[in-house]
Amino acid sequence: MATNRGQFNSRLGFVLAAAGSAVGLGNIWKFPFEVGAGGGAAFVLIYLAFCFLLCFPVMVSEIAIGRKTQLNAVGAFKKLGHHNWAWIGFLGVLAGVLILSFYNVVAGWAFGYFLEMSQGNFDFGSVEKFVGFTADWEHIFIYGIVFMGITALIVSKGIQGGIEKAAKILMPTLFAMIIGLMIYSFTLSDAMAGVSYYLVPDFSEITGEVIYSALGQAFFSLSLGMGALITYGSYVSRKQDIVRSAAMITLTDVSVAFLAGLMIFPFVAFLNAGDMSSVSGGPGLIFMTLPGVFESLGPLLGKIVGAVFFLLLSFAALTSTVSLLEVPVAYLVDEKKIKRPVAVWSMAIIIFAIGIPSLLSYGASDTLSSFVNLFKADADGVLKETALPFLDFVELIASDTFLPLGGTFIAIFTAYVWKKNNLNAELMEGRETQSQWLSKYIDFAIMFICPVVLGAITIITILERFFGIQVF
Ligand code: TRP
Repeated sequence: MATNRGQFNSRLGFVLAAAGSAVGLGNIWKFPFEVGAGGGAAFVLIYLAFCFLLCFPVMVSEIAIGRKTQLNAVGAFKKLGHHNWAWIGFLGVLAGVLILSFYNVVAGWAFGYFLEMSQGNFDFGSVEKFVGFTADWEHIFIYGIVFMGITALIVSKGIQGGIEKAAKILMPTLFAMIIGLMIYSFTLSDAMAGVSYYLVPDFSEITGEVIYSALGQAFFSLSLGMGALITYGSYVSRKQDIVRSAAMITLTDVSVAFLAGLMIFPFVAFLNAGDMSSVSGGPGLIFMTLPGVFESLGPLLGKIVGAVFFLLLSFAALTSTVSLLEVPVAYLVDEKKIKRPVAVWSMAIIIFAIGIPSLLSYGASDTLSSFVNLFKADADGVLKETALPFLDFVELIASDTFLPLGGTFIAIFTAYVWKKNNLNAELMEGRETQSQWLSKYIDFAIMFICPVVLGAITIITILERFFGIQVF
């Protein structure tokens, strides 16, 4: 039975595919900025602690649930618990559909920028020009269709021939591009001003808000909370060591995020001649500031470096869109007995359609561009009522609310429904080392730390963002 569903061919293949899911837009544009805004190395330390202390046990649980049941997110909860628990899986499938609907739009921008840079068009250095690009919906539509099409093509070829093969090509290429660009950025003048802005710790900037956003970022970046790793885990062989694989996935994700910052800040420092005081965060950095940096490298070098950068961003996004699409596809294949290619192409079309309002919400449609008034922290951390584009609204619901909510219930389910003895028995299969303290820690975290902390994050997010009640 399991063989019909497909299986990863090797541990490396699984680790690369899961790390590919984790490494994405979150690592390359969000992480460096949060580090810059949140006190440099002090933020990195907090982020690392969250990844390993809080997120790692959830990751291990997701993979174990998947491998034990050899089923998609919905089927897995039904099989281990009860029909009543299937809703966690449905919530995950829904989160995957919604996240992919807007993520594909941003991935399409990255792909569009790749085309612009390779033609030597660097003229994006202001909000108007960036929005000029995103509001040009005919182009954005095509980029979105191309990106979803490539994603669907990979997923339609199955686990070994599609997802694993793509990860084995894309991930090493991505690593090589990051290292190459980082080395090059170090040779630019004022590079060290960028590095020290990024890395010198400033503990005074660590506030409740910073800690809370570090946690949300860690969780999103590791692709947790919606059963993506339950789904990938269902294709893992019983001979593999889950704990060790999860450690490798976490390390890869953290390393890529860290290196992305080391590559980006020297570029920014070069553009600003070492003055980092006016550096701003948000999507602006990647889509508005960096094209100016590439332009200043000269016409030929700028084209090459700029094109490589946005190709890298597109590759990072592609291994993530693949994992997002695989979640609903696996559900349709296992539970509804739909053939993989049919499931893949129909889901891709539906999700693209759901993403159309997001696609039009950065300038093309006025109504969608300021869709709802919700609360967002300003530069000083004060909550302000802000008109959010439709895309940001979907992100708030799916990534910021559903994922920590799903994570809370995955931890509760693992600890109190499936139970720690069953988790530990699954982790023993293929285990290469017998580390008692690590198993004890995972048990403790999944029973107490993860449900409490993730539950608190969910509640704080809802209070702050939807109701404007300032918790931090
Ligand atoms: N982790 C990805 C990023 O950092 C986003 C992502 C891909 C994701 N698949 C996911 C997030 C599944 C949550 C769940 O860009």
